[in-house]
Amino acid sequence: MTKLKAAVIGTGNMGFFHAKNYFELDEIELVAVADIDKEKGEKTAKEFNCKFYSDYKELAEKEKLDIVSIVVPTKKHKEVAIFFIEKGINTLIEKPIAGTIEDAEEIIKASEKNKVKLTIGHIERFNPAVIALKKLIKSGRLGEINSIIVRRVGIYPPQIKDANVIIDLAVHDIDIINYLLERLPDKVSANSGKAVTGNKKDYADIFMKYGKTSAVVQVNWITPVKIRKMNITGSKGYAEMDYITQEITMFESNCNIETDSFKDFVVKFAPSEEKIAVEKEQPLKKELVSFIKSIKEGSEPEVTTKQAVDALKIALEVDSKTE
Ligand SMILES: NC(=O)c1ccc[n+]([C@@H]2O[C@H](COP(=O)([O-])OP(=O)(O)OC[C@H]3O[C@@H](n4cnc5c(N)ncnc54)[C@H](O)[C@@H]3O)[C@@H](O)[C@H]2O)c1
Repeated sequence: MTKLKAAVIGTGNMGFFHAKNYFELDEIELVAVADIDKEKGEKTAKEFNCKFYSDYKELAEKEKLDIVSIVVPTKKHKEVAIFFIEKGINTLIEKPIAGTIEDAEEIIKASEKNKVKLTIGHIERFNPAVIALKKLIKSGRLGEINSIIVRRVGIYPPQIKDANVIIDLAVHDIDIINYLLERLPDKVSANSGKAVTGNKKDYADIFMKYGKTSAVVQVNWITPVKIRKMNITGSKGYAEMDYITQEITMFESNCNIETDSFKDFVVKFAPSEEKIAVEKEQPLKKELVSFIKSIKEGSEPEVTTKQAVDALKIALEVDSKTE
């Protein structure tokens, strides 16, 4: 099997894991990593047995690559991604695609002109619990979806310097809700602000209307415990999904008998509870494997640039609506 040659640009929090996963994948040879922070970059290169460059341009000059992950801060996505795209290298950019729609569009235009595969790291799309939840919705067991409520909260991650909580966190769930409902919202509103970080928005409660379905997304960097959960209410049942533990519990509605008796109401209408089978897997590994497959097969990546731009557009609209 010919291995695809990969590199990772930016070896911070997330870039380290891109390097780790490429290193562990049989179909990939991790050739090099680059970071302006020599200490971080060298540590990652040593751990995963590849070369280190402090300048990504030098890396591109010296190494032959098939695939690159761009894992630098969001504001730098455009500059770094376009550089590799123009060299004809298939590019995975971490989410969000960019900080602005203009930047995103320039990146996409460059990828089309240079005929490279481009995808965005919307990692939750590869979360097996999300995939199982989509199947559950499609099966009709939940009935018509009436509402979706997501909480993605926790404490402030100090390395995020250039994005607020909407652009950094809500973009995940906006994309997932679009994916689950297979459409975009008609209307978006929100309440957001700066509660503790002082200089950037650290909380947002977002309301999105998808036809008859409501979606509420709460994101913040305030809650002292990390929660990543989605609750879905349908006409036939209710499901709770935990993005972290990759578990889904479904409660099937038994409220289909007419009665005036409170005893019947309590006893007969108790919902049946069921754990939905989810085969736990690492979403980042699945994301990289999926992108490699699209490169090898010449097919469209699972996360398309349009979907990434849709999620960013909605997040920016939410951001613009509140102070
Ligand atoms: N998919 C996810 O769940 C997820 C999680 C975390 C971060 N991210 C995304 O990943 C990206 C990086 O976030 P992070 O948390 O890893 O940030 P980070 O600050 O921990 O890492 C960024 C790294 O990029 C390096 N860097 C900056 N400019 C560079 C340049 N010109 N050349 C080479 N290296 C450079 C920095 O030195 C740093 O080590 C962001 O876009 C973020 O939104 C995604």
